[in-house]
This record gives sequence, structure tokens and C-alpha cells, in this order.
Amino acid sequence: MTDHYAVIGNPVAHSLSPHIHVEFARQTGQDMDYVRLLAPLDAFRATVLQFRDAGGRGVNVTLPFKRAAWEFADRHTDTARDAEAANVLDFRDGSIVGHNTDGVGVVTDLERNLGFAIAGKRVLIMGAGGATYGVMSPILDAGPTLLIVANRTVNKAFSVVENFRNHRNTSGGKVSALPYPELAGTQFDLILNATSAGLTDEMPPLPPGIFAPGAAAYDMVYGKRTPFMTFAARQGATLVADGLGMLVEQAAESFRIWRGVRPETASVISALRLEIGKQRQ
Ligand code: ATR
Repeated sequence: MTDHYAVIGNPVAHSLSPHIHVEFARQTGQDMDYVRLLAPLDAFRATVLQFRDAGGRGVNVTLPFKRAAWEFADRHTDTARDAEAANVLDFRDGSIVGHNTDGVGVVTDLERNLGFAIAGKRVLIMGAGGATYGVMSPILDAGPTLLIVANRTVNKAFSVVENFRNHRNTSGGKVSALPYPELAGTQFDLILNATSAGLTDEMPPLPPGIFAPGAAAYDMVYGKRTPFMTFAARQGATLVADGLGMLVEQAAESFRIWRGVRPETASVISALRLEIGKQRQ
């Protein structure tokens, strides 16, 4: 019997998730389908329940419903609880379990696909919205020696740091919040852009000279070269990546939660990159 899955968002027409999961299912021989589901802004829960009651086994959740998904779930993983947001709902044994695989997606892409180890590194995360909350736990778990959160509205960066103050950060690294101008004079081994600035071709106000030798720059926006990526390359970052690998890795982790097998991702990332490149020509 075919099992049913979906991605729920508003808007959702642009989502690449069906393409990715259909490929994972083909690759691992799983009998499942996966569709896009547009939920009215005031009817997220009703849309999830309708899908589940019609035989759905799980959903991915995208903007703007990740927080609503966390509120709706009966149980959470630690990562979803810390993030106060869920991008995966697993319908299991009569209850709805909320997971957050966004952060695992970034860390896996950086460490496994791009060969950048976070342990012992100085990391800067830009932004203090949902994307930042989603990645904080897995980044802390990866053991940076320093983690700074910078945000235009600095109070929001302080709230992020406060929220994760008691995190099980085994490395004992330092975590703090700063406004952008105060970053001048510090160098980082990894700068992660978790702002939405790239979507509108803007860039957070980073001072020059901020990349340490051999540093990596990662933008969570995918499918385009953002002003941050261009700045990073000019400022000497050795590795400059967009978030396409994160998108595929968070999907692979969702797939593992639902199906118990982890699909191969490298070929899916390459195929999508080719496809996106063709669409832009
Ligand atoms: P998400 O849930 O995707 O993180 P969000 O909650 O709207 O989205 O947060 C967007 C983040 O991008 C915020 O941290 C925002 O900074 P402010 O809190 O100061 O508004 C940040 N952001 C958006 N455009 C930006 C820009 N041009 N420069 C710097 N930061 C920007």
C-alpha cells in the first residue's frame, strides 16, 4: 500500500521537497507519494488533521507554519523543543511527533558534504529569527569554541542566546550576542547567514576583514548567489556555499524519521543544482 506524505506551507508552489522525496523513495524502493499542500494562513491545524485522517503518515512544514507545527505536536524531540519550531511532523501510534531537522541539515552539509568540521571553530550566525532558532542546537552540539549571534535588532540576538544558555554544549565554548558594528576586529572560521536578507538581494552590515584564513561562508538561502556570498568570496573565504545542500539534508533526515532508511544525498544535490542552473538560463 502506498504511504502518503506532503509539505505544508503558504505559499508552497515553489517547494522542491516533492522532487527530493520522490527521488529518495525511488532510490530506496519505498512505496510512497509526496505532494504539496497549501494551507490557508488561519487553518494550519485543520489542514494537517484532514491530511492525517485521509491516511497521511507525516508532513514537512515550511514557512510560515514551523512554530504552529511545534505548538500543535503532542511530543517533540529536544531539538524541536529548543527551537520552538518543527519542520517535520510524524504521525505515529495515534500521536503527532514534532522534529526539527533544519539544523542537522546545515551541520551535515557542512561537515559531510563540504568537509568543514565545526569542532573547535569560531562561528558567527547572522540573524535572530526562526532560521537561527532552528540551527542553534545542532551547531552547539558540533562543538564550536566560540558562537556569536549578530542581529540588526540586537535584542533579538540576546533572546536567542538567553534561550540556549543552558544548552548541553559539551565543548564549553563561549556563546554571546553582538550588534554588527561590534564584530569589527574579530575573525571567524565559519559565518552562517540565517537572515532573510539574501532573498531581497541585501546583505547584513558585516565589517570587512572578518573571515579568518581558510574560513567558510554559508548562506541558508538556496538557488542563488547572494550578496553575502559575493562579499565572502571577495573577502577571502575559502569555502562559499548556499543552502541547497541543507535543503536536501534536512529532507534526508525527515525521510529517515518516517521510513527508517537514510537516502543517499550527493546525487540529489547535484541534480537539483543542474536543474536550478538550467531554469536560470
Ligand atoms: P526567519 O524565520 O526566516 O529567520 P524572520 O523571523 O523574519 O525570518 O527573521 C529574519 C531575520 O533576517 C531577522 O534576524 C532580520 O533582522 P531583524 O531582526 O533586525 O529584522 C534579518 N534580516 C532581514 N533582512 C536583513 C538585512 N537586510 N540585514 C540584516 N539582517 C536582515
